Amino acid sequence: MQTIGKIFKILALGIAIFLLASCLKQTSGKTYNIGLSQCSDDAWRTKMNQEMRRELLFHPELSLEIRSADDNSVKQSADIDYFISKKVDLLIVAPNEANGVTDAVTRAYDAGIPVIVADRRVNGDKYTSFIGGDNFQVGVLIAEFLDTRLPDGGNVIELLGLEGSTPAIQRHNGFQSVVSRNHKINVIAQVRGNWLGDIAETAMDSAFSVYPDVQAVVSQNDLMAIGAYNAARKVGRENDILFLGVDALAGPGGGVEAVSDGRLDASVSYATVGDLLIKRASQILEHKSFPKDTIIESVLIDRESADVMMYVSSEIDHNISTIEMLQSKIDVFWNAYDQQNVIILLILAFVALLIASLIYLLVVYKQKQVANQKLAKATEELAKANASKLAFYTNVSHDFRTPLTLVTDPLEQIDKIGSLNAQQEEYLKLARQNSGILLRLINQILDFRKIESKMFELKLVKVNIVECVNTWITSFALLAKKNHISLELNVEQGADYTIGVDVNLIERVFYNLMSNAFKFTPENGTINVKIWRDGNNSLFSISDNGLPITEEQSKNIFNDFYQVDTTHSDGSGIGLALVKNIVDLHNGVVELRHSDNSETMFVVSLPVVDNVESLPEAGVIRQISTEKVMIELKDDERLVDDNVSDEDQNIVLVIDDNFGIRKYLKSVMSEKYKVITAASGEEGVNKALQYVPTIIVCDVAMPGMDGFEVCERLKKETITSHIPIILLTAYALDEQRIHGLENGAESYIAKPFKTEVLLAQMESLIKNRFLIKNVYGESLSIHTQRVSPADDTFMQKLTSYIDDNISDSDLNVEDMGSDLGMSRAQLYRKVKSLTNYSPNEFVRNRRLKKARNLLLSKQYTISDVCYQTGFSSPSYFTKCYSDYFGETPTSTIKPDPAT
Ligand code: FRU
Repeated sequence: MQTIGKIFKILALGIAIFLLASCLKQTSGKTYNIGLSQCSDDAWRTKMNQEMRRELLFHPELSLEIRSADDNSVKQSADIDYFISKKVDLLIVAPNEANGVTDAVTRAYDAGIPVIVADRRVNGDKYTSFIGGDNFQVGVLIAEFLDTRLPDGGNVIELLGLEGSTPAIQRHNGFQSVVSRNHKINVIAQVRGNWLGDIAETAMDSAFSVYPDVQAVVSQNDLMAIGAYNAARKVGRENDILFLGVDALAGPGGGVEAVSDGRLDASVSYATVGDLLIKRASQILEHKSFPKDTIIESVLIDRESADVMMYVSSEIDHNISTIEMLQSKIDVFWNAYDQQNVIILLILAFVALLIASLIYLLVVYKQKQVANQKLAKATEELAKANASKLAFYTNVSHDFRTPLTLVTDPLEQIDKIGSLNAQQEEYLKLARQNSGILLRLINQILDFRKIESKMFELKLVKVNIVECVNTWITSFALLAKKNHISLELNVEQGADYTIGVDVNLIERVFYNLMSNAFKFTPENGTINVKIWRDGNNSLFSISDNGLPITEEQSKNIFNDFYQVDTTHSDGSGIGLALVKNIVDLHNGVVELRHSDNSETMFVVSLPVVDNVESLPEAGVIRQISTEKVMIELKDDERLVDDNVSDEDQNIVLVIDDNFGIRKYLKSVMSEKYKVITAASGEEGVNKALQYVPTIIVCDVAMPGMDGFEVCERLKKETITSHIPIILLTAYALDEQRIHGLENGAESYIAKPFKTEVLLAQMESLIKNRFLIKNVYGESLSIHTQRVSPADDTFMQKLTSYIDDNISDSDLNVEDMGSDLGMSRAQLYRKVKSLTNYSPNEFVRNRRLKKARNLLLSKQYTISDVCYQTGFSSPSYFTKCYSDYFGETPTSTIKPDPAT
C-alpha cells in the first residue's frame, strides 16, 4: 500500500510540473495593457491603428484597446477618463484639439499613467512623450512647391484643418513663412474644412462662387484637397486650378493615388507613426531610455514620385498582406498547438491514472490472494485442529465414562449396604453427588459431539408437549420448594399441542434450560414456564428473575462452551450449545429474550411436523429423576455453623460458593476446629468481622466478591487484619498465586488439594501466630517486624490507650473496645489472638510491668505505685504483683545487698 501511495505522489508531482511548464510557456514575463484614445477614424487614422496592431505582433507582452472619439473632444475626454479608471499601464492619445483634451491628458498623467501624445499636440508638458510630423516644414514644402508651379504668381485659397488642432496652426505658419516673402502669391481666402472632405467640399462650393479667379487651392490635408477638387469639377474648373494636399497616403483612395491620377498636383508625406508609438510604449514600460519628443520629417510627392510610390506601396501592401496571412496561420497553428497541448495533457493524466489504478488493483488483488490463501490455510488448519480436538474430547470422554461408571455404581452399592456412620454417609453423598455431575457433563459432551458430527438420527414420535412439560416439571417442584423459589406453569388454553419430536432430546432441552434457570435464580426468586402455540409452531419458554444476562453475553450464549458466569464451577458451557443443536435438529428456534421486567427468558419454538399424525405414539412420558435433580442442581441442605464462644481458640471460617466443598471442609476440620462457613465473599467478610476467626480458608472464584477482594477487605480492617488467610482455588497459575499473596493472603493452595496438606498448612500458620503472641504479649515496648503494619498499628494504639489510662482503676474492656472501634467480643478475639491474653489480662500485665519499672526507679512508695498503675488497693496490688513476678513489691525496692 505504501508503494501505491508513492506512485500516486510521483504521478501527481509530474502532472503538476507539466501543467506549470505549460502555463509558463503561455505567460512568461509581465503583460501590459495600453489604451489608445484616437480622435477620428478616417483613412489616415485607420492606417495609424493598423501599424500599431502590426507592431504589437513583435510585442506579445502588450495588449491594446482602441477608443475613437469621432472628431469630438468631449467624447475623447470621456474616453481618456475611462482608460484612467481602468488603470491602463500606458495611454496613447491622438488629440482632436489641444484645448478640449489637455485637462483629461493631465488627469491621466497625474494619475501616474505614462502618456504618449501622437500627431496633434496638447497644451503644456504634462505628457511622457510626443511623436508626430514637422508640421511647420509641411507648410514650407507646400509653399515652395507652389512657388515652382506658379512662377508668375496667382490667387490662392488656403483650406484649413480644425481650428484648435496644432497641425492646422503650424502648417499655416510654415506656409505663411514662405508665401509672405513672395508678393506674387496672393492668399485671397482662408476656408475651414476641419480636416474632413465633405465639409471642405461644401465650403469650397461657395468659395468658388465667391472667388472665380483662383489659380491654386492649398489644402492642409489630402481629404480636404480632394473635396476642393470635387467642388471645382462641379463648376468645370478642375483643370485650371492647382490642388495641393498633405498626408500622401499610399494605397487605394489615398493622396498618392490622387496625385498619380492627376486630381491632385502634389501632396506632402505625413507619417502615421503607428509602429513608432508601440515601440515607444514598450521602451517606457520596460524602463528603457527614450527621447521626450520625436519629430518625423516630411517629403513632397509630385506626379513622378507618386507613380513610384504607388508601385512600391502596392508591393509593400502585398507583402504586408502575405505577412498578415502568415501571421493568422501562425495564430491558427498556435491555437491548435495549445488545444493539442491540453488534449495531450488530459490524455497523459488519464493514462497516468489508469496505470496507477491498474497497479493499485493489481497490488490489492495480490494482497487479497495472499490473504485468502492464508485464510484458507488457517481455516483448514483450524478445522483439522478442531476435528482432532473434538475427536480427542470424544475419546477422552469415552475413556472417562467407563471408570466413572465404575465409581458411581460401587457408590450406589455402598449406599445400599446402609451400615455407615453419619460422617461416612456424608462423604458418600458428596462422592455420589459429584460423580453424578461428572457423568452428566461427560454424557453432554458425547451427545453434543454426536449431533455436531451429524451422526445423530432423530427418533420422532407424536407427543403432546403440554403433557411432556407437565410431567418433567414435577421433578423440579421439590427443589423449588426447598430453595423457596416459586415455580409457575402457564399454558395457553384451546390450542393443539401435538408435535413430532425426539422426546428424549427435547427432555434434555427442557432439563438444561431448567438447570440453567435454577443455577441463576436466588432464593425467593421466580421461575416461570409457559406453553403456547403460534401458527405452525408450538412454543415453550422458561424465564427467571435471576442474574440478568447482558447484551454481549446473549450474543454468545449459544456458542459452544460459552459460559455466562465463569465463576460457577459446576458448568462447562456445553448445556446451552447442546440445547441449540437439538432444537436446530428439529428445525426449531431457540432464542434468548429479555422481558420488560428484566427477566431472562429462553424461548423454544418447535414446528409441528407435516406427518405428525402418522408418527408413532410416544407412550407414557418418563419422569426426570427427582433425586438426580436434587443432587445435580441445588442442595438445600444448610450447614449449621458450630457454636462459637469467646473462649474458643481455634475457629476456622470456610468461604466457598460450592456447597460440596464447604460441607466437605467442615467435616474434615470439625475434629480440630470450630468451623463456620460462608457461601459468598460478602457473607465471609461479615462473618470474619463478627466472629474474628483464628484462620480463614477462602475460595477465589466466587460470584460477586471474589477471594482476592475478601483478602484485601479483611487485611484492611483492624478487627481482622491479623487473621491468616489461605486461598483455596482451582486457578493454579503462578500469576494468580502472586496476585493472591499480594492481596495479603498468607498461603495459597491449588485445587485439587490434599486434606492433610491443607490441615498442615493451617496448623503452621496458627503456630506462627503464637510466636507473635509472645512478642506482643510479653514485651512492654512494641517493635517488631514479624506482624503486619495494620496489626502493629493496632497494638501501638492499644498500648498507648492503656498507658494513657493506666492510673484509672475503672478502665474496662467495653470502653476500651468502643474507643478502639470494636465490640467487646471483637476486641477480646483480636487481643487474645495477638497476645494470647484476654484484654483484661493484657491490661493487668501492663499495669504490673509499669509498676515494676516505677518501683525499680526507687522514687515512689509502694502505695504511690499501686495507685499510679490503677490498682484499687495495695493488698490487691501486692497479690497480683507477687503472682506475676514471683516476688513482693517490697523485695523489688529493697536495696541490693551487694551494693
Ligand atoms: C487625419 C488628419 C490628417 C492630418 C492630420 C493632422 O485625421 O486630418 O489628414 O494630416 O490629421 O492632425
